[in-house]
Order: sequence, then C-alpha cells, then structure tokens
Amino acid sequence: MTIDPTVDYDIFDPSFIRDPFPVIDQIRESGCPVAHTDRWGASWMPTRYADVVAIAQEHDVFTSRQILVTGPPPGQEPEGPYAAVAAPPISSDPPEHHWHRRLILPFFAPQAVAKFEQGTRDLCNRLIDGFIERGTADSAADYAQQIPVRVIATMLGVPTDLSDTFTGWVRGVLETGLTDQAVRLKARTNILDYFKTQIDDRRRNPREDDLITTLLNSEVDGEKVPEEYVHGVCNLMLVAGVDTTWSSIGASLWHLAQHPEHRRELREQPELWPSAIEELLRAYAPVTMARIVAHDTEFQGCPMHAGERVLMSFPAANRDPRQFERPDEVILDREHNRHVAFGAGIHRCAGSNLARLELRVALQVWLERIPEFELVDPASVTWAGGQVRGPRQCLVKF
Ligand code: HEM
Repeated sequence: MTIDPTVDYDIFDPSFIRDPFPVIDQIRESGCPVAHTDRWGASWMPTRYADVVAIAQEHDVFTSRQILVTGPPPGQEPEGPYAAVAAPPISSDPPEHHWHRRLILPFFAPQAVAKFEQGTRDLCNRLIDGFIERGTADSAADYAQQIPVRVIATMLGVPTDLSDTFTGWVRGVLETGLTDQAVRLKARTNILDYFKTQIDDRRRNPREDDLITTLLNSEVDGEKVPEEYVHGVCNLMLVAGVDTTWSSIGASLWHLAQHPEHRRELREQPELWPSAIEELLRAYAPVTMARIVAHDTEFQGCPMHAGERVLMSFPAANRDPRQFERPDEVILDREHNRHVAFGAGIHRCAGSNLARLELRVALQVWLERIPEFELVDPASVTWAGGQVRGPRQCLVKF
C-alpha cells in the first residue's frame, strides 16, 4: 500500500531520514503543501518557503512553548527539580524572549567568535593528525562530531575532555530521545545536573569573561536574572550548538567527497568560500524546529487547533523552487541565497557567526590536508534525522 505523505508523513521513516527530499517535493507540489500526520504525537508540516517564513514570523500564534519535533503535550512535562528550566531564548516567547536573547548576543558577535578561529583550526589539524596516515577515516564520527562540542565547551569554560559525554547527552535529547521519552528525560537531567554544579562553582569562584559568571551577574530591570535562566542558557548552548554544526560539517564533507569539481573550485578560487558556505548550509540545512499553536486558527486552508504541533522544516523551505533556482543543485557561487538554515524571525539562530566560522574552518583545514578523498561506499553512509539531519557514519578514503 502506498502512503500519501500529505496526510501520513513519517519523519522517522529510515528512507525519509536518508533522503527526505523526494517526499518533501511530493508534498510541496501537491494540492496540499501543508501536510499533516497522526504519527509521533501528530503534527503539521508546511513545505513551501513562504509558508515556513510566515509561520516563523507569526510568533503570537505559533509559539515556541515546545520546540522538539516530538514530545508530550504542552504542560505535561514531568515535575522535578528542573521543571522550571527550559532552553531560553529558543523556548521563550515575547515579551521574555527579548531579554532572554539580548543577554547572550554579545557572546556571538563576529569579533567575539573570531577569537575561537585559531583554536578551532588547531583542533581540526590535531584530529586529522590522528587518522591521516591511515588513508581512511570516518569524516562524520572522527572529525565533524569532534569539533563543535569542544568549541562550545571552551566557550562555556568547562573541560573539553568531557566531549564524548556531552555528545552522548546531546544525542539523547535530539536523536535517540525523540522516539523514547525516557531516554530524552535522562539525557536532559544529566545535562542539567552537570550545569547546576558549574553554576554553583561560579557562584563560589567567579571567573572573568566567563559566559556563566557574566550571566549570573546580569540584571534586568534592576534585578539579578533568575538562576533558571542561566541554567537554561547553558542547556541550550550545548543542545543547540553541537549536533547542528556537526551535522552541517558532516553533510558538507559528504557532498565534497562526491564532487571533485567543487573541491577543485574551492582550491583554485578561495574567494568562493563565503558563498560556498551559505550554499552548503542551504542545501543541507540540518535543523527542523517545532511550534505549538496558541489558539485555533486556519493556515493555508488547514484548520489548526490550540496545542497542535507544527514542524518548521527549514530543509524543505530551502529546496523550494519558488525561491531558489535549481534548488537541488549545489551552486557554490549562487547569487541569490536568502536561505533559512538558521531559521527566520525573532528566533533566528543567535550562534550563526560561530556556526559559520566552525563550518568554514573545518572544511578549509580538511581540504588543505586532504585535498582528494571519496566515499568508501555510498550505501554504507548512515544518517540521523527528525530534529537535526546529518551523516552519523561516513567512511572516506584518501
Ligand atoms: C550549522 C549550525 C547551526 C544551525 C543550522 C542552527 C540552526 C538554528 C535554527 C534553525 C534556529 C531557529 C530556531 C527556531 O526558529 O525555533 C536556531 C536558533 C538558535 N541557535 Fe542555532 N544553529 C546552528 C548552530 C548554533 C550554534 C553553534 C549555536 C551556539 C551555541 C547556536 C545557538 C542558537 C541559539 C541560542 C538559538 C536561539 C535563538 C532565539 O531563540 O532567539 N546555534 N539555530
């Protein structure tokens, strides 16, 4: 029996995770470009660029009360010591969203993230030193996965040698935990337990120029910000900054492994890097977010009810032929590229300068050291998807 994806899509179907675009194209070009499914707690999924952007901008109707693509209905999160800890600003709605975002922006300004460039370059070189003699590596697990978690740990002032532990927790929230709430809650508790000890430590031993210390000392309207806010920001930094960037780096390397002409162009025309980075972000946008409908409404003829979930498929928007010419092709010098890999509207990614820096440095160092490489076996590449899509195992030889 063939499934009609406009009324029964499955974001966790293995073939959708491996390559969602045939199904997304089918939905987008059907008479029903805002699809619906009852699977995984039910959701709506707009697939056209204009619709995704419109929903992102209507934040009073489409709230950020819950942003995971699956989960318990709003208000039914279990109680516990961390019940009040969310993930601001991504999980906040106006008016709080405004100050939740404003306080963290200085840490992500271009000049603030520039100081991570040399350290990221050194880290990438060290990782490549570890496998270059072998002539083969897993570009996702041995390289891409190792980079952002260490950069974020440095930014948060926590030990980078816990990287594997952090990666396990992040995957617990964004990957394995999406289809198993017990796994997700355990991972969330581990993250919050860890950052609680870090916050307590900063109260006893404040550090200079440290994100956690600075936030603990911040005031809004003459009052110190609540600890739940600082705790939630730490939670978000780890969850938003790791899997996302790693997936972009991994998908870009997977692409370059199969496109010798793009490797050559980047070597011979370094001026292409800025547009190439945007194009790789567009074509392999990793992140899908959710919104919760605040009150009954109708969107593009679809009756949406309060409490229902809407999936913001930024990958789908980025492949809409109404917005991008030849959307499925990677065109390194694409001129018009208002992609939404980083979202749109008030929640647009606060870490985009850091993400771009990491993606550029990771790809540049790889191509400097390993100019020619190819997939060992395209069929053996594995992908994760749902909330954050990217390769998880990608064997290459060189
Ligand atoms: C290629 C890598 C990345 C991608 C594709 C990405 C994507 C996104 C997207 C789509 C959103 C919008 C969420 C929404 O509309 O609900 C977002 C928000 C956010 N991202 Fe990123 N992100 C990346 C890397 C990072 C990094 C490295 C950080 C820093 C730790 C970061 C921090 C944030 C924050 C704080 C927000 C919330 C902004 C707000 O709600 O005002 N992201 N990101």
